[in-house]
Amino acid sequence: MKQEKIIVLDFGGQYNQLIARRVRECSVYCEVHPYTLSIDQIRDMEPMGIILTGGPNSVYDPSSPSCTKELFALGIPVLGICYGAQLMAYVLGGRVLTAPVSEYGKTIVTADTKERLFEGIKETSVAWMSHTDYIAEVPEGFHVTGHTDHCPVAAMSDREKKLYAVQFHPEVVHSEEGFRILRNFVLDICGCAGDWRMDSFVEKTIRELKEKIGDGKVLCALSGGVDSSVAAVLLSKAVGEQLTCVFVDHGLLRKNEGDEVESVFGPEGPYKLNFIRVDARQHFYGKLAGVTEPEQKRHVIGEEFIRIFEKEAGKIGAVDYLVQGTIYPDVIESGLGDSATIKSHHNVGGLPEHVSFREIIEPLRMLFKDEVRKVGLELGIPEKLVFRQPFPGPGLGVRIIGEVTEEKVRIVQEADAIYREEIDKAVSAWRRKHEDSGAETGSDVVSADGCKVNFGGKNFPDWMPDQYFAALTNMRSVGVMGDFRTYDYAVALRAVQTDDFMTASCSALPHDLLFTVTGRIVNEVKGVNRVLWDLTFKPPGTIELE
Ligand code: XMP
Repeated sequence: MKQEKIIVLDFGGQYNQLIARRVRECSVYCEVHPYTLSIDQIRDMEPMGIILTGGPNSVYDPSSPSCTKELFALGIPVLGICYGAQLMAYVLGGRVLTAPVSEYGKTIVTADTKERLFEGIKETSVAWMSHTDYIAEVPEGFHVTGHTDHCPVAAMSDREKKLYAVQFHPEVVHSEEGFRILRNFVLDICGCAGDWRMDSFVEKTIRELKEKIGDGKVLCALSGGVDSSVAAVLLSKAVGEQLTCVFVDHGLLRKNEGDEVESVFGPEGPYKLNFIRVDARQHFYGKLAGVTEPEQKRHVIGEEFIRIFEKEAGKIGAVDYLVQGTIYPDVIESGLGDSATIKSHHNVGGLPEHVSFREIIEPLRMLFKDEVRKVGLELGIPEKLVFRQPFPGPGLGVRIIGEVTEEKVRIVQEADAIYREEIDKAVSAWRRKHEDSGAETGSDVVSADGCKVNFGGKNFPDWMPDQYFAALTNMRSVGVMGDFRTYDYAVALRAVQTDDFMTASCSALPHDLLFTVTGRIVNEVKGVNRVLWDLTFKPPGTIELE
């Protein structure tokens, strides 16, 4: 059976991935492609609908990304958004002008609710605008279906040809009726059934992997992170014992993390896969001795990780396939520029160069992060692993300022475990209180691509950080414990909220939580007599300390 799909043609807009996310929220599979896709390529894909994104250019600039008239004559419904709307108007003979007043931000749009695209929405609603040019005259056959105070054509359509355009951005959460508009386009106008579900993804992927791999040998570098874990379990369901997972414990993991990963993927776990846990802790501590410069530390850790993985792979011998946990945001090509590069995913230090394999398998390359999490739950992977917060490849190595030693690793592991335990407790208490009182609970957590994620159907308080951890400063200071003077380390605690990890603010954790965590760490972690709270935003700070 063919997978029904919508394609998004990217004209360089900021929200291209967000459009695809929203379409997938309608349970319709969606892919983002550069605008340079040819008409034949588009036809071959057999999309149920096409969405043209926004972009920073002006249609009159000859170097601007463009499309041909044929795109609109395929008989496939098209929705143009912002620049995509102007392009539709321009290419089909309408007029686009530079607006005397640019509209930016929240704007009131009045829409013709008799229009199919706007069925069921409010006649006037807030929508997100970001444009300088505007459609001054619609092409022949089109009707104006929406306007704002400054924009005579905020929406237009040619119903017969199934061509629709909106000047505003329905994909962003600030557009009140945006999601309903996209739903109307995808389900009603394009006629999609909406059967893209994670359970069918799992079934289909396992079947395809079985066919592809046959009796080949597969190798997977397992980090214990969400993506590699989900990829490994999918593969194990498909080819069972033909899969070998190598998990390198570099001694820079969080407390008990190595055992937790082994309990799921090791011989006692539910998946019965060939699992090799390499205890390389002392090797790493040895290599890191005397290394204090942050970049050099990262380099040493990345390099050694690959060497050890290669050594283990060498013992297994030639493999047919290497598994990588690449996900969709890593592979989407940018619409602009002729030499669009595909970003590669570097879990720890990149791909090993000397491991011999025939092909790389990336079973998650079409999924967004929250879809990967859904697949993880579908596969029965414990929630604790599925909802793990991001953890850097170099691990605690970048959370210990200065030289890494086994003793410092112990300190930061223990402090971090207490911190995480207390946050868990505070969240549970918050949930009990709010759910008991019957009040509306929490806000959604925003994922890396700016979408709201409802983690496993649970709610979180507003202060819930997206990432939080303990780090060890390289500073010692004087304290008093009992009747004795101490001269111990200071632990720094961090809790940040962020959509994309490029910028971050600090979470306003409740005061009682701050005091409890501080008290427990200085009392329970030997070698620590001071706790400092790092409230630096990014920028100017970074999330990790090194
Ligand atoms: P920074 O410290 O740059 O971190 O503000 C941004 C996000 O990236 C994570 N991070 C890493 N992830 N390998 C990774 O896989 C790395 O070397 C690495 N360094 C930072 C960090 O945890 C945060 O989520």
